[in-house]
Amino acid sequence: MIFAKKNHLIGLDIGSRTIKLGEVLQKKGRVLQKFGMTDLPQGVIVEGRIKEPAVVVDAIKGLVKDLKVKEQNVATSVAGYSVIIKRIVVGKMTEEELHDTIQYEAEQYIPFDVQDVNIDFHIIGEHESNPNQMNVMLVAAKKEIVNEYVDLLEMADLNPCVIDIDVFAMERVFEENYLDEEGIVALIDIGANKMNINILKDKMSVFTRDVSIGGEQITREIASRFECSFEEAEAAKLGKADNKVPEGDIQEITYSFISGWCGEVRRAVDFFYSTYPEDEIKRIILSGGVAQAPGFLDALSAETSIDVEICNPFQALTIDEKKHDKNYLRSIAPQAAICMGLASRRVDDK
Ligand SMILES: Nc1ncnc2c1ncn2[C@@H]1O[C@H](COP(=O)(O)OP(=O)(O)OP(=O)(O)O)[C@@H](O)[C@H]1O
Ligand SMILES: [Mg+2]
Repeated sequence: MIFAKKNHLIGLDIGSRTIKLGEVLQKKGRVLQKFGMTDLPQGVIVEGRIKEPAVVVDAIKGLVKDLKVKEQNVATSVAGYSVIIKRIVVGKMTEEELHDTIQYEAEQYIPFDVQDVNIDFHIIGEHESNPNQMNVMLVAAKKEIVNEYVDLLEMADLNPCVIDIDVFAMERVFEENYLDEEGIVALIDIGANKMNINILKDKMSVFTRDVSIGGEQITREIASRFECSFEEAEAAKLGKADNKVPEGDIQEITYSFISGWCGEVRRAVDFFYSTYPEDEIKRIILSGGVAQAPGFLDALSAETSIDVEICNPFQALTIDEKKHDKNYLRSIAPQAAICMGLASRRVDDK
């Protein structure tokens, strides 16, 4: 959904735990201008809904100030809970004609009232077996949620230009960083509270799924088992606290959730294979903070029998080492993926 015309913008990924801000300049090649992150307290964003806007606004303003960001045009994204992405088949028509009829076409695929959603579409191409039909990617996002994010950004003195969808931002990172990649690739982002899966066939999205799981599950389990606060448990999980939680227990809890997440990914992969039995997923590209959880990559690879690689959204950018600490960027790279996908967005992109 596009709200403004000026082409340059910053990417802002408003995660339920960590807000990330990134800016890329188009000079000779693409240059990283800004990147930074800030944490939110637990419970401020729940299931994609902003429960405490004032806290989020303060966090965004703080990040903008710390990074000395001048640009006010922003691309942000929403996900799963309020978004429906579906590949549909419609009779062949022009883009303008589809524009006029998409509301009607969408009605049968959307479990909400079409009046309550913003609808977007992308014509993928002719249907495989019927030249009179075409495949279309239909995207519907609840107006209520989109407006919540628009209001939030305005309160933070920013200009919301693009409200994108997480899985499309991931796709953009992939397109820009893995240029020669063909065949089937699964992009998986696991954050504090959600997992987005996007399976691409020859760079075209053919399957998406969002699931409510994430790193916060581990933190909550540590907090409840060892009767400490969420922040203490989070610090213990990340090895940043010398407190009462034994390392062995953290590993055991981490591993039990990792194994559940791997099962969740495998179910999605199995579902994909049931629809595309001839195809083979060549690679999983993993992003989100949880990609850094010790042992996750190997466990996921073992569970799915697919090669897993950690996403680095900075890999194709020119980075001035006087302005940016490369070791820091390397250490948080997977967590920055969606943000950098948003930062690469141009207002007039489809
Ligand atoms: N090194 C690490 N080991 C284990 N977990 C980590 C590590 N670094 C970050 N995390 C976890 O990753 C999560 C944050 O990741 P991310 O920033 O991708 O989430 P988010 O975007 O805020 O959340 P969401 O998208 O689910 O709303 C937290 O649960 C954090 O504890
Ligand atoms: Mg996230």
